Amino acid sequence: MNILVTGSRGQLGSELGELSALTEKQRFFFCDLPDLDITSPTHVASFCHDHAIEVIINCAAYTAVDKAESDAEAAFRVNRDGAAVLAACARERNALLVHISTDYVFDGRSSTPYRETDPATPLGVYGVSKWEGEEQIRRIAPSHCIIRTSWLYSIYGSNFVKTMLRLGAERSELSVVADQIGTPTWAADLAKAILLMVERYEKGALSSVTYHYSNEGVCSWYDFAGAVMELAQLPCKVVAVESSQYPQIAPRPQYSVLSKSAIKKECGLEIPHWRVSLAAMLEKLQQEANG
Ligand SMILES: NC(=O)c1ccc[n+]([C@@H]2O[C@H](COP(=O)([O-])OP(=O)(O)OC[C@H]3O[C@@H](n4cnc5c(N)ncnc54)[C@H](OP(=O)(O)O)[C@@H]3O)[C@@H](O)[C@H]2O)c1
Repeated sequence: MNILVTGSRGQLGSELGELSALTEKQRFFFCDLPDLDITSPTHVASFCHDHAIEVIINCAAYTAVDKAESDAEAAFRVNRDGAAVLAACARERNALLVHISTDYVFDGRSSTPYRETDPATPLGVYGVSKWEGEEQIRRIAPSHCIIRTSWLYSIYGSNFVKTMLRLGAERSELSVVADQIGTPTWAADLAKAILLMVERYEKGALSSVTYHYSNEGVCSWYDFAGAVMELAQLPCKVVAVESSQYPQIAPRPQYSVLSKSAIKKECGLEIPHWRVSLAAMLEKLQQEANG
């Protein structure tokens, strides 16, 4: 199988890059801006044609949630229109499109884990742009796998865990919101789940589908920050605050826990608890730092 990974220098794309080195079954092509812009139909089509692409894994996205509020055009161009470009290319080539979406398609008013069939009512521009991207894919690409995930972090790029490590080393006390509830996802775990989807597709066991994937467990950002400090042994006190005390530009769902029942049942996936994966990520980061 020839597999294109778009947005390959991001968190998830980088984790897929690492995993790809462990498999000889597939041939991967990793692309990011400026070499491959997913919003360019001609560019995408000619790349996929030249490399006989059979699977597209779309890790490219506009992910700046707050910036999107004042830069909606750019967010929609990448998250909605770019998704449509890839969907059209996948349809043309009879290829599978694996696409990543977000818990921010939900408004957070639920108090039980969101299922794939729950109505999407995103609160901010980023969430709307991602939801419309999903809808484009469902409409255009006959063969697709959309995976919604939440609170993604990895050793690559910038993310909440790396910010907590930096601030935890600089400060003795840190305020973190305790009334937004969700589940962190280590991008390395999600990358494995994505490759499992590709394997299932190769075996003819994957129909067009939307799944939820995060690590197991539930926490607040305050709990998550506390675990980072504890596991990294940083003597920084984490203080719980309410969202109203920490205003952010884009509205966030108060509760965005995703139900993973479907992907676990249908694909036989075992998903690590978020604390176990956080410990593994921190260990990997430490190893990288030690060279
Ligand atoms: N991060 C989270 O907490 C989170 C949570 C839920 C879901 N997700 C979803 O998970 C997926 C992966 O997220 P991530 O954190 O790995 O994202 P990321 O680190 O921001 O990486 C996205 C990559 O896409 C590239 N890109 C942007 N516009 C592009 C374009 N037009 N053509 C090609 N590449 C483009 C970016 O390049 P530049 O850096 O140069 O812009 C970047 O390398 C995304 O779909 C995201 O919406 C993320």
